[in-house]
Amino acid sequence: MSTLLSPYDTKVIAIDGPSASGKGTIAARIASILNRDYLDSGALYRLTALFAKQRKIDWANEEQIAQLAATLPVIFIGGKILLNDLDVTHTIRSEEVGLNASKIAAYPLVRAALLQRQRDFLTTKGLVADGRDMASVVFPNAELKIFLTASAQVRAKRRALQLDLAINGEEFKQILVDIEKRDAADRTRAVAPLQPVADAHILDTSSLNIDESVQKILDWYQIIKK
Ligand code: C5P
Repeated sequence: MSTLLSPYDTKVIAIDGPSASGKGTIAARIASILNRDYLDSGALYRLTALFAKQRKIDWANEEQIAQLAATLPVIFIGGKILLNDLDVTHTIRSEEVGLNASKIAAYPLVRAALLQRQRDFLTTKGLVADGRDMASVVFPNAELKIFLTASAQVRAKRRALQLDLAINGEEFKQILVDIEKRDAADRTRAVAPLQPVADAHILDTSSLNIDESVQKILDWYQIIKK
């Protein structure tokens, strides 16, 4: 596994947390306010899972999936994600792709294959990176480490709202089940499990909206910059 860290590897705000915790929206907003690049590391795991499914690779074949991860033909351009020149921006957001991503994310070879690719997103401009192991593995020297939490119920409600679904129907129940399943898999896996590092700021967003969450993180950022 590569351990190459860049000379400016402190210029990172790492935002980790479970699925549907709002970290993507929050991280992208902070990157834009601070004029930094943004890394959605989950997209790389989702892309690997989608690519493996398209190639009909056996889910148990860790080596082959890692090989795909290392050579993903992906382009991030103007808010769009192209895999093999096809626009998969929306396709990779499905719950099915999320669950498959979680499955292959438990493979050490896959994580190793994606490590340098994630670090390469960092330039002198600085980065806001979101995922599960940004602070613990990918950017251990990040200047600010945030761990977002919110109850599974709250996160399932947010997801249902995004999808325009009622929050008492069968579809909502399924969303909740999927979220809990993915949480359990991400928290209990042997490599890079989802858990806060010792120096993380914990932010429970259950009763905060996006603006309030962003503000809280910017307040912490101002404190470390003083
Ligand atoms: O963040 P997102 O829901 O898009 O991530 C999809 C899956 O990819 C997660 O459930 C997790 O298993 C995996 N992942 C990871 N490490 C990251 C980002 C995502 O294991 N840094």
